[in-house]
Amino acid sequence: MSFKRINYRRITTFLVIFVLVWMFLLIKDIPKPLKDVRNKLSAAQKYDHIDKEAISQKVDLLFERVSNELEESNRLLLEVQQKLLARHGGGAVRESPKKPVLPVLVVACNRVTVRRCLEQLVKHRPDPETFPIIVSQDCGHNATYQVIKSFVDSDPSISVVLQPNQSDITVPKKMRSLKGYYKIARHYKFALDHVLVTLGHEAVIIVEDDLDISPDFFEYFLGTYPLLSKDPTLWCISAWNDNGKQSLIDLASPGLLHRTQFFPGLGWLLRSGVWGELRPVWPEAFFDDWLRDPAIIKSRSCIRPEISRTYSFGKVGVSKGQYFENHLRHMQLNTQFVHFTKLNLTYLLKENYDRNLRMLLPTLVEMTAPEVKNSYSVAPESVIIIYDSVPEYTRAAKALGLMDDLRGGIPRTGYEGIVTCFIKGRRVYLVPRETLRTI
Ligand SMILES: *[C@@H]1O[C@H](CO)[C@@H](O)[C@H](O)[C@H]1NC(C)=O
Ligand SMILES: *[C@@H]1O[C@H](CO)[C@@H](O)[C@H](O)[C@H]1NC(C)=O
Ligand SMILES: *[C@@H]1O[C@H](CO)[C@@H](O)[C@H](O)[C@H]1NC(C)=O
Repeated sequence: MSFKRINYRRITTFLVIFVLVWMFLLIKDIPKPLKDVRNKLSAAQKYDHIDKEAISQKVDLLFERVSNELEESNRLLLEVQQKLLARHGGGAVRESPKKPVLPVLVVACNRVTVRRCLEQLVKHRPDPETFPIIVSQDCGHNATYQVIKSFVDSDPSISVVLQPNQSDITVPKKMRSLKGYYKIARHYKFALDHVLVTLGHEAVIIVEDDLDISPDFFEYFLGTYPLLSKDPTLWCISAWNDNGKQSLIDLASPGLLHRTQFFPGLGWLLRSGVWGELRPVWPEAFFDDWLRDPAIIKSRSCIRPEISRTYSFGKVGVSKGQYFENHLRHMQLNTQFVHFTKLNLTYLLKENYDRNLRMLLPTLVEMTAPEVKNSYSVAPESVIIIYDSVPEYTRAAKALGLMDDLRGGIPRTGYEGIVTCFIKGRRVYLVPRETLRTI
């Protein structure tokens, strides 16, 4: 790893020197044509006013040339930077320093309720140096900007950047009502580039303007962050449990975490290495479903909590209000502070996690979804519901009140097809029969 770091530094140093020398040579070049101009001037004082014009034209030309060269070298530098980023992607792991800086990117548009989000971030933030807040605003909505600006003006660790491209996006006719999703994808690309490429941070915590957070939100990311550099099969950390309703979680286990191959979003951490890999192929729209495509994510996993560390209070927005009423409204936000940085989280590393499942699953009592739903457990127990097909899974999930949709063959919160939840005093595992053999 340190070998790669040295290489990176050496290349950057080389480039900087190269550009400096280049600029020096350019500047050295300038007097020559100027001298020509001066000679011409004295030789042609008779044609006074005409030659003054010629001089100023020539000087303008020179300026243009120098600034063009500068632009070109800046562009080259950026290109090299991005190539290097991409090379750090995939399984490659960058060493993280003892105390990482994890900026929080707040993605804002035209909702003045961003105030509620920012107030909570400021309130629960343990230390502004570790967690600087960067708001990226799209949509050019002045009232929202004024709210953001009031935070920026009162706190040097909060900054704002405006998405510069406000041009219209032409979308296929049948997609016209979904244009908002195109703008969101464009904004995310700009904002992630800003934090991870332009500012050069090694990771970022992404929240949208309609999220409440739990008191241990920052502690959660700080505690789980080291897992990403220990396990190349992890690509993100999410604060969200897609099946996080009170009736589906173990309220007595706020410290419990899981792996999932279904990208949860809603408060998540991304590292620059993975961004280097995603940015060249970033989609025009629907990026969250794109991040659930096993071909894109290469079947890697995210960490997610048993009890969500975010809560979506946003009702108006691009996604439909109905989804909020039926689903988001009933999600449970964690209230107990868990000291994740002091917990032993090695059980989440793939090898340990798979081994534990391999040992546990064969020992579980088998039940059907209706049996689970219709009886309370008197003693703590874990049960298994085995399924053989997607329709069978969907039926069981519906009966239990779980999200029943899949993306790229992966059920929400799924890990190797396994979905776990906590119902009426029981830990429940829905498991594909095949996984029992392969895990
Ligand atoms: C934005 O709002 C502020 C405060 O209400 C106002 O002073 C300013 O003129 C507005 N700017 C624009 C461009 O509308
Ligand atoms: C602005 O966005 C449009 C649509 O996404 C894109 O085609 C165009 O290249 C962008 N312009 C700039 C300057 O990035
Ligand atoms: C963490 O837990 C694992 C078992 O899951 C154990 O093997 C390991 O020794 C523990 N590490 C520490 C530092 O306690």
